[in-house]
Amino acid sequence: MIKACYVHVPFCKNICSYCDFCKNYYNEKIVDDYLDVLEKEVKNNYKNEVLNTLYVGGGTPSALSCKALNKLFKVLSVFKLNDDYEFTFECNYQDINEDLLKLLKENRINRLSVGIQTFNNKYMNVLNRNIDKEKMMANVKLVKKYFDNINLDLMYALPGETLESLVKDIELFVSLNVEHISTYALIIEDHTRLKMLNVNDIDDDLQAKMYYKIIEILKGHGYEHYEISNFCKIGYESKHNLTYWNNDEYYGFGAGASGFVNGVRYDNTKSIFNYLNERFKVEEELVNEECLIKDEVMLGLRKIKGISKESFKFKYHKQFERVFDYKELLKLGLLKEFNDMVFIPESKLFVSNEIIIKLLDTYIA
Ligand SMILES: C[S@@+](CC[C@H](N)C(=O)[O-])C[C@H]1O[C@@H](n2cnc3c(N)ncnc32)[C@H](O)[C@@H]1O
Ligand code: SF4
Repeated sequence: MIKACYVHVPFCKNICSYCDFCKNYYNEKIVDDYLDVLEKEVKNNYKNEVLNTLYVGGGTPSALSCKALNKLFKVLSVFKLNDDYEFTFECNYQDINEDLLKLLKENRINRLSVGIQTFNNKYMNVLNRNIDKEKMMANVKLVKKYFDNINLDLMYALPGETLESLVKDIELFVSLNVEHISTYALIIEDHTRLKMLNVNDIDDDLQAKMYYKIIEILKGHGYEHYEISNFCKIGYESKHNLTYWNNDEYYGFGAGASGFVNGVRYDNTKSIFNYLNERFKVEEELVNEECLIKDEVMLGLRKIKGISKESFKFKYHKQFERVFDYKELLKLGLLKEFNDMVFIPESKLFVSNEIIIKLLDTYIA
């Protein structure tokens, strides 16, 4: 039974130099047409399940005009939510004002995710992003008047960044005392302005130091490190993202969205032109058992507490030890076991991708 839904709003007023997400320059007429098509996609696919989580991401959903937001919320009003739902909406700090916050609250949103990235305006040009520390701080404080479940996105490993300047940045994030912080090491993606500018990744050793510094500081301030890159105050895990890490099914609507419905993983077109012409899906794959199990491990090991062998057996009617021959990885200290859980130890989290690949290689067909 599907319990989660992601809706993508692929419009931004400004395009950041590092971003390869599905997004387009804001245009009121195109947004209006997009919402008509989104409504059709939702109506044709949503089967009236009561959802635990709804997540509206982008792009920049908060960039929509008041009229467009009202139209979006009318589309979203068809989703049934349970009593304990989590409904997240992504916001750019520049769009935040009391009217917007009131409108969001009136439309069932109870969690806000604000893309801060960095408070250091030295990165304005290279990221092609407006960075106004005072306004960022003031607007997050304003959000706190209305919402008690807030996430901030923090980006690090920025060009030329030092450990010292990262520490200053993290301290500002911490001072805002929000419930959740998602961290992202900058990836220089193909087809982005950063790539064209030949900007290089910072060196791996420094990136590892930054990663562990973030963990040290955030844990020191009472944040629980619950996923490789995500931290929260007790009880404030992102329920929506846990759907992904638990390998559960979810709807994905909108251009560039992905979904997992009735055993089929699908990707929607990233082309706004194709989407507006109702050519929605570009890729559909019926996931067989082997893929499902491998996804379970790949996603599940992102959680710091790891994978429960008991739950694995319940889900797949197989013992974890009979599916993966991971004794060697335990011996090497790349994986650990405690009670029923298999997990990546903290000291090895920085190389979690390599460990997960090694574990998948031990799959016993
Ligand atoms: C799709 S964005 C949506 C947030 C919102 N549009 C904003 O920028 O404020 C989600 C997050 O992904 C992260 N992100 C996007 N591109 C990235 C990249 N190339 N490398 C690392 N993180 C990235 C950023 O932290 C961003 O806030
Ligand atoms: S990072 Fe956010 S605001 Fe910047 S281009 Fe990407 S989606 Fe738009």
